[in-house]
Amino acid sequence: MKLPDYKEARSRDKRKYNRLTFKIDNNIEKKYNGKKYFIKTYGCQMNEHDSENISAIFEAMGFESVSDYHDADLVLLNTCSIRENAHNKAFGMLGRLKHLKSQKKDLLIGICGCMAQEVKVVDEILNDYKFVNFVFGTHNIYQIPEIVDKAITSSKQQIEVFSREGDLVEGLPVVRTNSYKAYVNIIYGCDKFCTYCIVPYTRGRERSRKKEDIIEEVKTLVKDGYKEVTLLGQNVNAYGKDLYDDYNMGDLLEDIAKLDIPRIRFMTSHPWDFTDKMIETIGKYPNIMPSVHLPVQSGSNKILKLMGRRYTRESYLDLFHKIKNTVPNVSISTDIIVGFPLEEEEDFQETLSLAEECKFDNAFTFIFSEREGTPACKLKDNTSLKEKEDRLYRLNDVVNKYFLENNKKLEGKTLKVLVEGVSEKKDMYFGYSETNKLINFTSDRDIYCGDIVDVEITSAKTWSLDGKCK
Ligand code: 5AD
Ligand code: SF4
Repeated sequence: MKLPDYKEARSRDKRKYNRLTFKIDNNIEKKYNGKKYFIKTYGCQMNEHDSENISAIFEAMGFESVSDYHDADLVLLNTCSIRENAHNKAFGMLGRLKHLKSQKKDLLIGICGCMAQEVKVVDEILNDYKFVNFVFGTHNIYQIPEIVDKAITSSKQQIEVFSREGDLVEGLPVVRTNSYKAYVNIIYGCDKFCTYCIVPYTRGRERSRKKEDIIEEVKTLVKDGYKEVTLLGQNVNAYGKDLYDDYNMGDLLEDIAKLDIPRIRFMTSHPWDFTDKMIETIGKYPNIMPSVHLPVQSGSNKILKLMGRRYTRESYLDLFHKIKNTVPNVSISTDIIVGFPLEEEEDFQETLSLAEECKFDNAFTFIFSEREGTPACKLKDNTSLKEKEDRLYRLNDVVNKYFLENNKKLEGKTLKVLVEGVSEKKDMYFGYSETNKLINFTSDRDIYCGDIVDVEITSAKTWSLDGKCK
């Protein structure tokens, strides 16, 4: 049994980590033929992509996927710790699973993802959620076959959570949920330690994959007919820093742009590491989508400093305008936190004025959520929840106004759309533009998922656009 430990998780040193290749033990391969699994995924694209790897490992063990957890022999919750509501959702689901297990004694229940890295959560599972059969951490995915096999054969609770990032494992199998769009991890972990954020503790230090491994993966995706890759990392801009002296995110973007893949996206970018080479490369290659997610978090220098964000309002705005001026028709989206400890009305006004200036194409807005073990927990928080909610509403009013205003400018224009399916209304298709806008559209001719088609925009809404295929 290996339990999580925050002190270990916080440590960063120059120690070399191992690079391993995943291999499933012959004795476990296909051992569970006929058994069924269900994974519920919470949180970010990293977790979604981890679930694609975990699914493939379960399938290598013989499990088959089912779409209703009531039909499963094994249910896994791939959890998220970023804010308290993500926590609550996972614990709510655990309650339902407890009920199911009372009727289905052999049901196997597992927990993984970021919550599995939290000391308090694992304590709670050990003491109060004894019906959970196994827990494994974000660094332990490659050990799933042994962990699950032990949980089944020994009937003892299995907890395997490395706090110190383990090895960087290549060759994990993958079952992709989409046949046209694929996630490709390029860097794991985060060293930024923003004071509110739990991620550096749950995902470990920054570890880049070798460029050859990434390029090989993208080449295979091209061969398999994929149209879009999203290069993933908590902070993709730090790519290569831990591995190369003279090769970074700008170089990787350029090398991938030269492969025959129609669409390249990347997320997330911390403003700190955004180089001129990256901006030039995004502007230069038409297959790098002109869409940048650039979290600002706050418009107040006082709050940015307390958040440990390493940039000022002014330097963020310089970067923002440099990207806008260099990359034609670029869309920029952001994340913003309101109600950070010590945020006063005047700090919040600075956030509003930054949102007015940037006119973001999309923004994810959150109320600050205290995460145990992070430095922001120690700051005094004088603002009431009601006041924080009020700030969130006022911020949303401003950002929403610009989503619509930006979308209105696209009316009458023709956009390239990657077709993803038939929309909920059934009479329309849907897909995403190069700038990552959701487009619902009609077509007089047959079109197929994975096609990239020209759509004339007929009307703009706040969160989507309607159009007609040409
Ligand atoms: N409280 C509120 N929002 C948070 N985020 C990260 N940590 C917290 C927290 N403790 C937000 C940030 C980040 C996004 C992924 O989640 O805006 O960019
Ligand atoms: Fe969290 Fe900051 Fe790292 Fe993003 S850059 S994952 S907000 S610590």
